[in-house]
Amino acid sequence: MSIIGIDYEKCNNCKICLSTCILFRYNQETEKIEYKDPQNFCNLCGQCIARCPENAILHENMGEASEFEGVGKPDAILSYDSLYNFMRAHRSIRRFKKKKVPTELLRSVFAAMNHAPTGDNVRSETFSVLSDPDQIKRLNDVVIEELLKDEYMNDRYGKLFYLLGKFFRSPIYFDAPHVIFVSSPYTHEVEMNNIGIIITYGRLAAQSLGLGTCWNGWTQIAMNINPKIKKLANINGKRVGIFIIGYPAVEFYRSAPRTMKEIDGLL
Ligand SMILES: Cc1cc2nc3c(=O)[nH]c(=O)nc-3n(C[C@H](O)[C@H](O)[C@H](O)COP(=O)(O)O)c2cc1C
Repeated sequence: MSIIGIDYEKCNNCKICLSTCILFRYNQETEKIEYKDPQNFCNLCGQCIARCPENAILHENMGEASEFEGVGKPDAILSYDSLYNFMRAHRSIRRFKKKKVPTELLRSVFAAMNHAPTGDNVRSETFSVLSDPDQIKRLNDVVIEELLKDEYMNDRYGKLFYLLGKFFRSPIYFDAPHVIFVSSPYTHEVEMNNIGIIITYGRLAAQSLGLGTCWNGWTQIAMNINPKIKKLANINGKRVGIFIIGYPAVEFYRSAPRTMKEIDGLL
């Protein structure tokens, strides 16, 4: 994966790349743009590719850069009002229809997650999904067992898990048809930001497809306490974030109330 140079058949010396990234420079003698990265600064963010009007940046194994209506003017794709309402309508879903999500739809959710930004563009996270109810149940039982060993978690959730157990076979997953895992091989604190952003991209994409989701911090906490639990989900990352996904079996008539936080320093 790398930027490999400039396609001089296409480059018209507009020099936009120079204002995009310090790794490009204009050679006065040859009158050509050059790309040099002797110290390996490039983190493959791809902004040079996205900004070159002539599509003259050569790259390999970095995937396709897409051209679509609104790519240069995202505010024309979606207005603030639409986005704000979409976000206000975003709810955690804990009641699901007994219906699997078609693989193609799940792929669309993963595709959106694949476009989430990560610190230094590390993109080290991996995705996986559990869809077998028996496997989900096994994970559910082990996560509950692990959480209830902890005094605080027992006090906070012991009774709740017991009550949920009367309604759901896998109470902590609310019998969702799928559980999605985003894991990272690194322990760096930024990794949880990366995972959080990826999951948020996925959840918002899911909502746009008529699907419902709920974050599952319980599994994350249990896996942190006892990393062996990860084996039940076939994951071996060091940091992990989890959400459930399915067709919602609930309707909402208004947004949930949220008091506005105070904003220090805003004039
Ligand atoms: C990081 C994070 C972890 C969460 N973990 C759980 C969880 O383990 N179980 C659960 O039922 N909901 C979980 N939630 C959902 C929150 O309870 C929910 O977002 C909050 O109550 C607000 O409701 P809303 O999402 O419908 O606006 C989590 C949410 C976040 C952001």
